[in-house]
Amino acid sequence: MPDPKDTQRSGEFRLNLEAAERKTPDVIPLHRAVMREMAEPRDGLEPVPVWLILGFLTLAGWAGWYIATNSGGFAADQYNEKALLASKSAEAPEPVDPMVLGRRVYNNCVTCHQQDGGGVAGAYPPLGGSEIVAGAPEQLAAILLHGLNGPLRVKGADYNGEMPEWGSKLKDEQIAAVITYIRASFGNNAPPVGADLVKQVREAAAARSRPWTEAELRQFRLGG
Ligand code: HEC
Repeated sequence: MPDPKDTQRSGEFRLNLEAAERKTPDVIPLHRAVMREMAEPRDGLEPVPVWLILGFLTLAGWAGWYIATNSGGFAADQYNEKALLASKSAEAPEPVDPMVLGRRVYNNCVTCHQQDGGGVAGAYPPLGGSEIVAGAPEQLAAILLHGLNGPLRVKGADYNGEMPEWGSKLKDEQIAAVITYIRASFGNNAPPVGADLVKQVREAAAARSRPWTEAELRQFRLGG
C-alpha cells in the first residue's frame, strides 16, 4: 500500500507539471510560419551572373598580361641573382671609339699644337701635314711616351723646343687613341694605331728616362 502522503505529493507534482505545460507556448505551430515561407530547394543549374563572368574575364586577362610582361622569357635563372650578376659582368664593355677618346686626349696638346693642329710658328711644330705624324707609328709612340727635344725639322721649318713626355700620365690606350686622332685629323690621312703597339714601344724603350732627340728617334725601330 502506498503511503497516502506520497499519493498526495505525486498528485500535486502532476498538477504543477500540467500548469507549466499550459504556460509554455507550443513550438510546432510557432515555427510553422517560418517553415512555410522558406523556398524549397530546386534541382538544376542557376545561370552564372554576368558580373561574375566579366570579373573573371578581367582577372584572366590581367593575369595573362602580367605573366607576359614579367616572366623574363621563362628563363631558368630569372630569379637567380648570382647568375644574373655573373652574366652582366661577363658582357664585354662597349669598346671606346678611338677617335672620340683621341679627341678628348688631344685637349692635353692644344696649348702648344693648337686646336687646328697648326702649331705655333717658330715654337711648336704643326701636326697637320707633318711627316713625323704620317710616318712610322712606333716613332710617334716613342715621342708621346718619352717626349722630344733638340733641333727638329717639320714641313721645312726648324724648331728647337721641348715636347713633354706623356708616358707617365697617359695609358697605352689613350696614347694610341690620340695618335690615331692626329693621324686622321688636320688634313692627315694615316692609318690608326693600336694600344698593343704603344705597349710594345713602352716595353722596348723601358730603360729610357729622358726625351728623344730627332737623331735618336730616326734610329729607333721596334724589334731591331
Ligand atoms: C708644352 C707644349 C707641348 C705640348 C703640351 C705637346 N707638345 Fe708636342 N711638341 C712640342 C714641341 C716643342 C715639339 C718639338 C720638339 C723639338 O723641337 O724637338 C713637339 C713635337 C711633337 C711631335 C713631333 C713633331 C710634329 O709636329 O710632328 C708630335 C707628333 C707631337 N708633338 C704630338 C703631341 C701630342 C699628340 C700632344 C698631346 C698629347 C703634344 N704633342 C703635346 C710641344 C708640345
